[in-house]
Amino acid sequence: MTNIPIKFREAELPMTTIGIIGAGEVGSQIARAAISNGYKVVIANSRGPETLKNLITELGPSARAARAADAAEAGDFAVVAVPLKVVNDMPVEELAGKIVLDTNNYMIWRDGHIPVIDSGKKTVHELRQEHLPNSKVVQAFTHIQAPRITTAGRPPGAPDRLALPTSSDFPQAVDLVTRLYDQFGFDTVENSPLSESWRSAPGQPAWTELAHQTRDELIVNLTRARRS
Ligand SMILES: NC(=O)c1ccc[n+]([C@@H]2O[C@H](COP(=O)([O-])OP(=O)(O)OC[C@H]3O[C@@H](n4cnc5c(N)ncnc54)[C@H](OP(=O)(O)O)[C@@H]3O)[C@@H](O)[C@H]2O)c1
Repeated sequence: MTNIPIKFREAELPMTTIGIIGAGEVGSQIARAAISNGYKVVIANSRGPETLKNLITELGPSARAARAADAAEAGDFAVVAVPLKVVNDMPVEELAGKIVLDTNNYMIWRDGHIPVIDSGKKTVHELRQEHLPNSKVVQAFTHIQAPRITTAGRPPGAPDRLALPTSSDFPQAVDLVTRLYDQFGFDTVENSPLSESWRSAPGQPAWTELAHQTRDELIVNLTRARRS
């Protein structure tokens, strides 16, 4: 079934090109939602732009494929929709000075154990921030199954409008994500700074109920979080 992205309002952000690194489930869905909201996207995977022909054909003229460094450079801001690796594999220099939306969730079955996260010393998003020291990292789109990014959005004020968490050490980055969520049809609950983002990590109440949390419900679930 083809998802038809919901469009609520024209893009109001002064920045109009999003560099998306990761063209899998999340990256491609963010690209679809972004284009239907008036953005341009430059999108990359690990295998090279030539492997993204079908996606670019589907996305149309507002999209082009690139290598990761080129996508990072082209974006007014960037999305990293790639699992975090212990050794950084993202283009640090090209992302410097930019807001970087980090969609990563820590999945031991996929990522293996990362001791500094297991011990509670760091959150995954703090590690991403360490990997990208000159960027403004912000947790975004971690709490929605990828296909729903283009289908679950609702207009502002709808009683069943879902809320998504965001977290950053940079208020400007939270503001940008809040506007983007709103354009895509979601409310925001800020859970800053990045060191607090464990509250929405897999296994916490905000995670297990991620399919259907309104703003009030998400706030309650974040306060119910306990360090394991
Ligand atoms: N799936 C969901 O519903 C969901 C929801 C919320 C958050 N998340 C999180 O979002 C992140 C992405 O998840 P996903 O499901 O979209 O994963 P995915 O479908 O496996 O896609 C991962 C993408 O990252 C690319 N990639 C990997 N290493 C790269 C590198 N060094 N440079 C450029 N591109 C690279 C892959 O390219 P190749 O295919 O060419 O290797 C692929 O396009 C994960 O951290 C996940 O936990 C997922």
